[in-house]
Amino acid sequence: MNVLGIETSCDETSAAVVTGGYRVLSSIVASQADLHARWGGVVPEVASRKHVERILPVIHEALDGAGVTFGDIGGIAVTNRPGLVGALLVGVSAAKALAFALKTPIAAVHHLEGHLVSGFLARPDLAFPFLSLIVSGGHTELAIAHGAGNLQSIGRTVDDAAGECFDKCARLMGLPYPGGPVVDRLAERGDPKAVVFPRAMSGDSYNFSFSGLKTSVMRFMEADSGKTPVSDVAASLQAAIVDVLVSKTVRAAMEFGIRTVCISGGVAANSGLALEMARACSKAGIDSIIPAPEYCTDNAAMIAAAAYDRLSAGYSDPLDFDTFASAPFAQNRE
Ligand code: KG4
Ligand code: ZN
Repeated sequence: MNVLGIETSCDETSAAVVTGGYRVLSSIVASQADLHARWGGVVPEVASRKHVERILPVIHEALDGAGVTFGDIGGIAVTNRPGLVGALLVGVSAAKALAFALKTPIAAVHHLEGHLVSGFLARPDLAFPFLSLIVSGGHTELAIAHGAGNLQSIGRTVDDAAGECFDKCARLMGLPYPGGPVVDRLAERGDPKAVVFPRAMSGDSYNFSFSGLKTSVMRFMEADSGKTPVSDVAASLQAAIVDVLVSKTVRAAMEFGIRTVCISGGVAANSGLALEMARACSKAGIDSIIPAPEYCTDNAAMIAAAAYDRLSAGYSDPLDFDTFASAPFAQNRE
């Protein structure tokens, strides 16, 4: 069965066609990053308007890329939570209209479920249980995936998300939005030991805190007044974020006896995180999986994959489902 995925939760208008569970026939992502860069962050109203302009061309491009027509689509999967409500509404309205017209089943998908499932796009034989670290612009979640839809949250950020920290610190460093990829590129030629930024370990818990790091970068930039090369600041900032993410993830895998770690979300595209996570996991005898960068950042292929089993089993959500700015993801650890 071919599933059409639609994702418009933030500033990417995306559509994809996935078949056989995790085989991506096409994945189109129209990013609005350039548009929002001049404001230093996503402007919700602008994002919604752009989604309206782009959603139908992006869907058609996904169908063309997959070599299929609407008649070949057996189910539609769409992100309905969490995200910018006005942005979500565009994708959800398009998906509902298509499901109604084509008489196909439709599934409402939690955005983080998509990120979690993106591990299967990289490794279709990925087996439960695995430890999932989701690091994006809005979320930092550490959860044990025991089975499909059976998640146990063991930690999350108590303040800024990892991607938010990259973006906010980059802004303090005078870098353009979104800062994560820019810091990543600069860090390649910087010295990660040039500046010692704090690593907030929050005791023994698996929670994360990044707001102290942001304050520290702000103080450093004020005091330094441009003396330290920006590549050194970038490398030091990246090392501070990566250290905390890697050490907590590997410690959790050891404590819970889990042999596979899967990292997803936009920050998983960070080359320093990929390198350090692979190094630390292999030292601990743990398998680590990171999807290709295009499946780390927001994309509709992961949304289609997340709902594939449900849709192919004949399940459909009623057409009156809503959109939500925030929504629970995994159950907390008992
Ligand atoms: O998953 P995503 O595309 O959207 C959300 O669901 O938030 O993640 C976007 C976040 C942004 O904060 C962006 O700066 C960050 O992922 N990001 C990166 C990299 N690529 C994207 N952060 C660090 N290094 C990267 N290479
Ligand atoms: Zn995301």
